[in-house]
Amino acid sequence: MDYQLVPMDKSHLKEVAELDKELFTRPWSADSWESELYNDTVSLVVAEDPDGGVLGYGVLGVILDEGCLEKIAVRPDCRRKGVAQAILGSFLRYGEEHLAYIGLEVREDNSPAIALYEKNGFTAVGRRKNYYAEVHKDAILMDKVFREVTP
Ligand SMILES: CC(C)(COP(=O)(O)OP(=O)(O)OC[C@H]1O[C@@H](n2cnc3c(N)ncnc32)[C@H](O)[C@@H]1OP(=O)(O)O)[C@@H](O)C(=O)NCCC(=O)NCCS
Repeated sequence: MDYQLVPMDKSHLKEVAELDKELFTRPWSADSWESELYNDTVSLVVAEDPDGGVLGYGVLGVILDEGCLEKIAVRPDCRRKGVAQAILGSFLRYGEEHLAYIGLEVREDNSPAIALYEKNGFTAVGRRKNYYAEVHKDAILMDKVFREVTP
């Protein structure tokens, strides 16, 4: 599949917001996406096809040396071709250089995402009961540690 990873910009916003609405039960609004573009504490990456179309996107929040994978998603017709792996890989390379760890939350029944995270060395460290109350599902908390932080 022909694509490159690029920083998200205004040209991607409409497609990203539409995909987000289609894929997540708690999507970000178009306004939130736009304001994230100007948020210095997040890195927004798009897998872009040669025509500028969005195949997938990811958002990594960073505060000091702590990372939080806030979003990762791939268009349904582009899945199982390594797009999420490429996006996550770019965040992990950044993490290895600059972060102590990256944490995330995933719905307990989201087996594709859990498989992606486990393949990349994330481990389950906790659970938030009924976090997705609208569907009566827990969130699994996972993280990948790059270096131990001494308290
Ligand atoms: C989870 C998601 C991002 C994976 O995207 P993708 O581009 O299809 O994933 P990749 O092709 O890069 O897969 C990388 C690895 O993830 C795992 N994986 C991905 N999809 C999987 C599936 N349906 N079943 C089992 N493992 C899967 C595999 O380990 C895979 O490696 P492999 O192909 O060598 O077996 C995608 O399914 C998605 O957008 N889901 C909806 C949004 C979402 O739930 N995001 C996560 C929120 S926490």
